[in-house]
Amino acid sequence: MGQFPITRTTTPKQKPADDALAFGKVLTDHMFLMEYNEGKGWHSPRIVPYGPLSLDPATSVLHYGQAIFDGLKAFRSEDGRIRLFRADRHAERFNRSAKIMCMPELPVDIIRQSFDALVGLEHDWVPRKPGTALYIRPTIIATDVMLGVHPAHSYLYFLILSPVGTYYKEGVKPVRILASDSHVRAVKGGTGEAKTAANYAASLAGQRDAEAAGYTQVLYLDGVQRKYLDEVGTMNIMVRIGDEVITPPLAGTILDGVTRNSALQLMRDWGLTVSERPITIDEVMQAGRDGTLREMWGTGTAAVVSPVGTLGYKGEDITINGGQTGELTQKLYDTITGIQYGRSNDPHGWTSLVPVERG
Ligand code: COI
Repeated sequence: MGQFPITRTTTPKQKPADDALAFGKVLTDHMFLMEYNEGKGWHSPRIVPYGPLSLDPATSVLHYGQAIFDGLKAFRSEDGRIRLFRADRHAERFNRSAKIMCMPELPVDIIRQSFDALVGLEHDWVPRKPGTALYIRPTIIATDVMLGVHPAHSYLYFLILSPVGTYYKEGVKPVRILASDSHVRAVKGGTGEAKTAANYAASLAGQRDAEAAGYTQVLYLDGVQRKYLDEVGTMNIMVRIGDEVITPPLAGTILDGVTRNSALQLMRDWGLTVSERPITIDEVMQAGRDGTLREMWGTGTAAVVSPVGTLGYKGEDITINGGQTGELTQKLYDTITGIQYGRSNDPHGWTSLVPVERG
């Protein structure tokens, strides 16, 4: 597709101070758009001023949620250069989500070019303070105007950007999580593996109840036996019991997290025993009681690595590592962010430099 046509904004926004950044509250000046129509394929890629979309109230995504998204980040290193972290893997996952949700896939190189083109144009929006980044949100929505329930014939791809600080207002500090025995996020055969709007809608009530009970996030258990760990909030979950690091396997209900994959790779590089296997909440609670539960953390693009300091289940709270960030959790955080910000070498070639648009 080559270069994309750009219509520049005539009313650029005031950029927030890096210190004031929360997660996803401020959007940049431009967005990338592209449509799909059956028989024609993807067409009309372009960059335009950021602004509202105009949708007919009968647009199918508004009723039946045929929508996918992904999320990755651009990081500024000390020398000013901008890097994306594992953009190919995010683009591939975006397409896997598309497949699950009966939506047309997009060529990975077009997705990548859209990231580079928009981030390159908006390079001044990539914040500078350590811990900050430019969050990249590619999305596809079904745009057929019809109330029948079936896959649409037309779609809109849009890409928007948001300068972000840390995901949790606590920063990289241990959080309190509640293993829910009443709320379920996904079941096998459903859409749990896709990054689709419905999974996040399904997590809201559990999240509300966990917050009301004084916790930060929900640890979801499997939907059938309510026994096995699934996901924590919007993140994958990992536990370190004795000399083993355990994370639930990719068996259809959880997201194939890019940070999850990166953490597993690094720990295997370091020679640790890492198991992707089902693990029950009873095993984790028992390890908490007998002192073998050394660390527990969530992994995700937004928070990177988020230590769990307290785990609640059926009225019992266990404290992990004295409520402090564990050494492996910290090492993973430091190593992953070191690669992302270009401070450490990148043995697996996970980062790519963004060509910057001057003008
Ligand atoms: C992530 O960890 O990157 C997420 O999925 C969070 C996002 C939905 C805000």
